Amino acid sequence: MNKKGINDVEIRGKRVLVRVDFNVPLDKQGQITDDTRMRAALPTIKYLVEGGARVILASHLGRPKGQVNPSYSLAPVAKHLSELLGQDVALAADCIGHPAMKAVSTLQDGQVLLLENVRFHAEEEKNNPEFARELAALAELFVNDAFGTAHRAHASTEGVTHYIPAVAGLLMQKEVEFMGNALERPERPFVAIIGGAKVSDKIGVIENLLEKVDILIIGGGMANTFLKAQGFKVGKSLLETEKVELAKQLIEKAQAKGVRLELPIDVVVAQAFEADAPHRTVNVSEIQDGEMVLDIGAVSAERFATHISTARTVIWNGPMGVFEMDAFAKGTERIAQAVAACGGTTIVGGGDSVAAVEKMNVADRMTHISTGGGASLEFLEGKVLPGVAALSEA
Ligand code: 3PG
Repeated sequence: MNKKGINDVEIRGKRVLVRVDFNVPLDKQGQITDDTRMRAALPTIKYLVEGGARVILASHLGRPKGQVNPSYSLAPVAKHLSELLGQDVALAADCIGHPAMKAVSTLQDGQVLLLENVRFHAEEEKNNPEFARELAALAELFVNDAFGTAHRAHASTEGVTHYIPAVAGLLMQKEVEFMGNALERPERPFVAIIGGAKVSDKIGVIENLLEKVDILIIGGGMANTFLKAQGFKVGKSLLETEKVELAKQLIEKAQAKGVRLELPIDVVVAQAFEADAPHRTVNVSEIQDGEMVLDIGAVSAERFATHISTARTVIWNGPMGVFEMDAFAKGTERIAQAVAACGGTTIVGGGDSVAAVEKMNVADRMTHISTGGGASLEFLEGKVLPGVAALSEA
């Protein structure tokens, strides 16, 4: 990474504002249901604590739209972080103004403070300079470790960098390095697996990857639009009719580039989008009018798995079917196993494929699991992430 990191700067005794992405899922009782993002930020926080910095954490949680809303309070996060760190983490009632300044003023070296949700202020998402200046005034150094929010040019990710020195945290460095190396210097064969419901969400990713990969595997609901472009009937499957032409162009582009584009050759179809709907596996040429595709078939899954087994670099984003329903999870599960068994570098990004990897208990067999949803997609699209771009050059 060509940006300065926390190892490149003095931290002892310094007030350090750290943007983390603690946008974790909460259940109705306000309990955290997945703390992956919090655990992913621990190396940076511990490095700063052990190095004697005064750590001021800032994050958003959900989309409270600029209003104070207790259901989006970071209180459960502060409590859980205290447990993870084994030390007290106080919560300042506001991220700027008197509550924040007072809490910061009593902070000792090695102590950790969490500021309340930055999105309780509308100025955050507007990247308001005055709000950013107030946040920055709390500290002498800014560390961005929020890879998951790096695609947002908000006050706490981009704005603050105009007022105090800004460097990357360890998670940010790791994310950018793993994904950047895979895209820029892949060991070949380089195989990408792209799934999920809609082509329209991933056009940029497919276009960028077509410039880089040897094999592009497409599954999930978005494959239907490609099947239609190949002339197959897809019954009442999810289909983006207005993207069929684009799918044709992408198929042609792959041919012109010598990229092997792999689409399902068999699929699991059902009469209804229901967990217990009767279903059957058919060749893609046999989909009936009343049927909808809900997973890739076993033949396709094996074929995809064979390609994955030959890869030296794999990037996977998006499930192969409706994997939350057991009857339609097998394609995604087979891909998760195949990626886990691959001897090359394997990178998984995007909430659903990460959930699949966790469900299959193979997370620890992946080289890197991204904490970014939208951010990892934009990274795979080849876009410059504003939160990264704003950091000081190494
Ligand atoms: C995410 O969960 O992708 C990040 O935390 C960004 O959240 P946002 O989409 O609400 O900006």
